[in-house]
Amino acid sequence: MLLGTGGYLPETILTNAQLTETIDTTDEWIVERTGIRERRIAAPHETASSMAEIAAREALEAAGLAPNAVDLIIVGTATPDRIFPSTACLLQQRLDIRHCAAFDVQAACSGFIFALSIADQYIRSGNAKHVLVVGSELNSRLVDWSDRSTCILFGDGAGAAVLGAAREPGIFSTHINSDGQYKDLLYVSNPTNSRGEINESPYIKMQGNEVFKIAVNTLEHIVDETLDANGFVQSDIDWLVPHQANIRIIAATARKLKMPMEQVVVTLERQGNTSAASIPLALNEAIRDGRIRRGQILLMEAFGAGFAWGSALIRY
Ligand code: UT7
Repeated sequence: MLLGTGGYLPETILTNAQLTETIDTTDEWIVERTGIRERRIAAPHETASSMAEIAAREALEAAGLAPNAVDLIIVGTATPDRIFPSTACLLQQRLDIRHCAAFDVQAACSGFIFALSIADQYIRSGNAKHVLVVGSELNSRLVDWSDRSTCILFGDGAGAAVLGAAREPGIFSTHINSDGQYKDLLYVSNPTNSRGEINESPYIKMQGNEVFKIAVNTLEHIVDETLDANGFVQSDIDWLVPHQANIRIIAATARKLKMPMEQVVVTLERQGNTSAASIPLALNEAIRDGRIRRGQILLMEAFGAGFAWGSALIRY
C-alpha cells in the first residue's frame, strides 16, 4: 500500500510572460494550447538526486519510516546527475541507506508508473517490504530555450512515494507498455557519442502534434484495459491522477472516463510538464491538501517518449 508521499519544486518560477521576452509566443497561445501558466526552474547547484532527496525525506516522514527501513530504491528519471552510477544510487548515498538495491528506470514521462510497477512486483513476491519510488527531473537542462514548440512545456521537480507490504494490496494492478517504432517523434540524443565527441543538438526534439494524437488514443485504451482487468467501472474511480503534459490530453482522458474535471488532479498550470515527476507531485499535492483521502480509488496514467506508457489503479 501507499504509505507516504513527498514532493519538491525549485524556488524559481518562470512565467509565460517571461518567455514572451525571449521567444515568439504569447501567454494566450500557451494557456489555450497547453493549460500551462508557469513552471519551476532548478538552481544551478540542484540536480535530480538533490531534488529527489528532499521529496524522498518528506515521503519517508509521512510514512513514519526511517530511511534504513527501505529495502529497494527505484528512481524514474531521464535527467540523471551522471550517466552512471544511477541517480537511485546517489539518492541512496544522500539518505545514508546501506544494503539495499537502488536503480533507475528510464521510461521518460512514464518513469514513475514503470517504477511503481516494478515496486509492486517486488512487494507482491515478498522480495521487498518497503520500496522508495521517486520521479525526479531537471527538464530545464534538456530544453532548447530558443525552440518555442518545446521550451514552453517543461519544468523541474521531484515527487516520491513509499510503498509498503500490507495484507490488503493498495495497488490493484499496473499496466506498462512500449513501442520503440516511435523513437523519432520525441527524443534527446546522447550528448556524446561512443568516442566522447559532442553529438548533434543534445536537446529535446518533439513532433508535438503527432505525439498528441497518439497519446490521446493510447491513453483511452489503457484506461479501459485497467478498469477491465479489475472489474471496475468508470464510476468506481474517485480521482484521476494523470501525467501532466497538456490539459487537452488530460481533458480527453477525463471525458473518456466521464469524470468531471473536479475529480482530476491538475498541477500543470503551475508546474508545466515535469516528466517522471509529474504524477508523484500531483499525488502528493492532492493528498496533502486533503482532496485524496484514505480508502479512495485512484487511477494514474502516463504517456511519453519511446513511446512508453502505463497506468496504475490503487486504493489510497
Ligand atoms: O510528456 C510527454 C508527451 N508529450 C506530450 O504529450 C506533448 C504532446 N503535444 C502537445 O502538447 C502539443 O502538440 C503542443 C502543445 C506541443 C503543440 O500544440 P499543437 O496544437 O499541437 O500545435 P502545433 O504543433 O500543431 O502548432 C500549431 C501552430 C504552428 O504554426 P503554423 O505552422 O500553424 O503556422 C506552430 O508554429 O502553432 C505554432 N506554435 C506556436 N505559436 C505560438 C508552436 N509553438 C508555439 C508557441 N507560441 N509557443
